[in-house]
Amino acid sequence: MFRPVASPFFHDSSPPQRAARWLGALGSLGLFAALGLGCLGGCAQTRPETGSAVVADDRGLPCNVADVLDRKCRACHERKPSFGAPMALVTRDDLLAPLPSDPTRRVIDGAIARAADVSRPMPPPTLALLTDQEKQALQSWAAAATPGACATQLVDAPGIAIGTPTCTPDLPLAPSQPYEMPATRTNEYVCYRVDVDSAEPRQVVAMVPVPDNQTILHHVLLFRVDDETEAAKIGTKPAPCSAMRSMLWTFLYGWGPGTGGLELPANVGINQPKKAHYVVQLHYNNPRHLGGQRDKTGFNFCTTDKLRPFEADVMAFGTDQIYVPAKAAASVTCDYTIPDTAADGIHILAMNPHMHGAGTAIETNVLRKTGEDMFSAPATLAKIDPWNYQDQQWQPVSEVLRPGDVVRQRCAFANPTSRAITFGENTEDEMCFGFTLYYPRIKASYWNWAYPTMKSLCTNGP
Ligand code: HEC
Repeated sequence: MFRPVASPFFHDSSPPQRAARWLGALGSLGLFAALGLGCLGGCAQTRPETGSAVVADDRGLPCNVADVLDRKCRACHERKPSFGAPMALVTRDDLLAPLPSDPTRRVIDGAIARAADVSRPMPPPTLALLTDQEKQALQSWAAAATPGACATQLVDAPGIAIGTPTCTPDLPLAPSQPYEMPATRTNEYVCYRVDVDSAEPRQVVAMVPVPDNQTILHHVLLFRVDDETEAAKIGTKPAPCSAMRSMLWTFLYGWGPGTGGLELPANVGINQPKKAHYVVQLHYNNPRHLGGQRDKTGFNFCTTDKLRPFEADVMAFGTDQIYVPAKAAASVTCDYTIPDTAADGIHILAMNPHMHGAGTAIETNVLRKTGEDMFSAPATLAKIDPWNYQDQQWQPVSEVLRPGDVVRQRCAFANPTSRAITFGENTEDEMCFGFTLYYPRIKASYWNWAYPTMKSLCTNGP
């Protein structure tokens, strides 16, 4: 029933060229103009169970034991275990329960054995193993299994926090000097690079935009550039750059008027290699040609060396196949099937639906695979109807997509003008994206954040 629709623009382009074209578009006028990746000043939207508050203890464990479980085990062995873990590792009762694989032993004994098991370690080998001190904590507790009462920072399923983070930023990303916009220019794309060298790999756990001169600031995008040669093309002094550069960069965040910060859940971080290169891409707009406009917009990060088990990433559902005839309404509906590559599931943390001014409604649904060619009825992941261009925010979403599930992105438009509207970077052009912050990051070499949009099957409708 769904068939690919020839894109009016890219029908003769190979996927990489298409990617190049519209990955670049993201860096251009309009996209983040009102992307509003967050809440207006200080509106902290947190799921009620979010782990920022200290909660009364109900776990019956001393702190040194609770800490080991929180830091190294609970990502999978949560009260409701995930990622194939067979049991919870949260309370004293959990630790004293019979081990699923051998009920004659206690879970704590299995835990100590697996922490020391070189061939099948717990946590699994891709994660940081227990330190000697952490192993010691489990061992000394195991014999007497004394009850404790540790007020804990973490409760079940800590969620994403959108707004002002609870952590104290430790890594500022700022230009080496302010940029002064020439009064002769109306629009300007400016980039600068920030290099971060650390002794060990770290993770970014919160990102807070620090907008400076909002008289000229239109939108800001933040990327990590892992390719040294590519990174070297951008200077540390802000300088005009091509909006098309961002094609192979890792997309991290964007700012538009009103965007606040974002703090990841306690089991998720964004990897920062020992030598990290961040690129801030700014779009300035100075329609009145004011003189002396200087700007030093940047970001503040909270980072940690206590690496969290899961790496977050951003991808986009949707399409560039947009065609809205003059003086008409049109919609596009795109289906993307979650590939086997995402075997661990796509754990969605937040979504940010994005269109421009001609949008009337946008919706992302999931059709869960229930059997061979069988799917559940569509369930909403994110929906904004009616669409409001001025009010675009990240929305917390807590859903897991599995291979075979179909994500259906629908965008509806109304075109009052006498020229056709197509996909593009300018405010007069349109977009249809469901930006999705998720974990664990898909690591296939061909993957980039735009991949789902390039592999979608789309159909145009009224
Ligand atoms: C990334 C997810 C993940 C993390 C983190 C993790 N585990 Fe596991 N754990 C699993 C999975 C999956 C299994 C089942 C497969 C296996 O036994 O290897 C498992 C199995 C186990 C078992 C075996 C249960 C049995 O019935 O024999 C023990 C014990 C265990 N984990 C302890 C721990 C401890 C202790 C930690 C933290 C120090 C930890 N795990 C961290 C995913 C995880």
